[in-house]
Amino acid sequence: TATLGRHGDLAGKHVVITAGGTQEPIDPVRYVGNRSSGKMGYSLAREARDRGAHVILITGSATLPPPYGVELHRVETAIQMRDAVLRFITAADVLIMSAAVADFRPAQVAAQKIKKTGGQSGTQEKSEHGNDGGLTLHMVRNPDILQEVAEVVDKASQHQRLVRVGFAAETENLIAYAQQKLVQKHLDLLVANDVSRSDSGFGSDTNKVFIFHANGSMEDLPVMPKTDVAAAIFQRIVPLLGTT
Ligand code: CTP
Ligand code: CA
Repeated sequence: TATLGRHGDLAGKHVVITAGGTQEPIDPVRYVGNRSSGKMGYSLAREARDRGAHVILITGSATLPPPYGVELHRVETAIQMRDAVLRFITAADVLIMSAAVADFRPAQVAAQKIKKTGGQSGTQEKSEHGNDGGLTLHMVRNPDILQEVAEVVDKASQHQRLVRVGFAAETENLIAYAQQKLVQKHLDLLVANDVSRSDSGFGSDTNKVFIFHANGSMEDLPVMPKTDVAAAIFQRIVPLLGTT
């Protein structure tokens, strides 16, 4: 894809953005998913494109039209998203993880559709069907993508500067959790929103966010359309580019 704008404040910059939710398969017809709509990530992709960046949008589940002039890569699982992110950041100046990455995935993906009543089918070797007629799914941890990026970037000297931005959706203790994530994941910025509010987060067109900076400062932004939140985020990213 050609770079559209050549005169914006992100002209010549490569921006990788993740959006939407991951889907973790249970069997050939079912998955564990989440409520992420992808709206925030897609807004970020359009904003970066309009500012002249070359944009790679790595998208999980989202039923939004692909933004024009953006390189789109579709993934399903957290592991596929991790692999795509690690591949594309080698040439990137900015990584924004706005995707809702599943923390856990089913330990095994059943080869055949899981039946309501277990036991008899030879393919359901280790039946998770309980005596109560229920089913227990065993889940294992997914890789933490930003954590892996931190390890790669901090080791490799060719990554002189990759501006890293994370998102955090919280329902309680927002400030404490957000500050902890910023530090643990070695982020430049962390955008946090309180998803217990109806005007913020999943599916909404508006968002009320706090932006945490690596120097410890915090900004409390008013409720805004997600397109304006995207602009506010890039306003803060641009000055971080080209510094070391
Ligand atoms: N993230 C990631 N890899 C994961 C989970 C999350 O890179 N496996 C990223 C998200 O895309 C987001 C940031 O980390 O930018 C914070 O995600 P969040 O779910 O809030 O944090 P977690 O570290 O998963 O902690 P918890 O869910 O327990 O609050
Ligand atoms: Ca999580």
